[in-house]
Amino acid sequence: MRKKFIGANWKMNLLYDEAKKLFAELSKPSLSASDAEIVIFPSSIYLSEFARLKGLPLGAQDLYFDDSGAFTGAIAARQLKSISCDFVLIGHSERRITFSETDEVVNLKVKRAVRTDLNVVFCCGESLAVREADKHLEYIENQLINGFKDLDETELKNCIIAYEPIWAIGTGLNASNSEIEEMHGFIRSSIAKRFSTSLSQSIRIIYGGSCNQDNASEIFSLKDVDGGLIGGASLEFESFEKIIKSL
Ligand code: PGA
Repeated sequence: MRKKFIGANWKMNLLYDEAKKLFAELSKPSLSASDAEIVIFPSSIYLSEFARLKGLPLGAQDLYFDDSGAFTGAIAARQLKSISCDFVLIGHSERRITFSETDEVVNLKVKRAVRTDLNVVFCCGESLAVREADKHLEYIENQLINGFKDLDETELKNCIIAYEPIWAIGTGLNASNSEIEEMHGFIRSSIAKRFSTSLSQSIRIIYGGSCNQDNASEIFSLKDVDGGLIGGASLEFESFEKIIKSL
């Protein structure tokens, strides 16, 4: 039985006081006792203080693949671990596009993260042009092959895959139920083919892209959907609470 996972990807939003207030509200026992695993991904500058508050588990939105050294502005996996930040998003489309992250860089980051004992939320997703050309399955398979290159089954056991079609992120246009089920089933079979049936059955595959309080319950009940990665709708307590409760 796979435990549902809900991630709040706050991206570059919320000032310090707003972020602190929202984190405190979300860490109330009624939500943290949910059956799902709920992880907050705030701006990295808030992580160490939030970790001291001992509320919900925390994740970073990115990391760098080297361990230490002259990499101005970067954050290492070991530094995240040292403040009890146990999750990290890797390969979000905003990083791939805005920050020009290649599959190769994504792969180096995944390797570093899992080998530092971080839980990785590996993001993949196709553009509208790729979907319209009917190349979405092949495209996602390549992102998986390249992103997980040189990793073995054991190293992927703490990995979660987030399928986030780029055209659905922040647009209000979520993918249809059949599009989501097709892709999640495909990702699961691709993991079975490349690694093992047992990994394909245990790995969590979550959906992201305009998930909100109105559509979450339906999306989360789809076959092969183990939760969601929520952007815009995670920035307000009421909407995120409804999403959690819709599980
Ligand atoms: P959205 O973002 O929920 O605002 O579409 C999701 C994400 O980018 O993870």
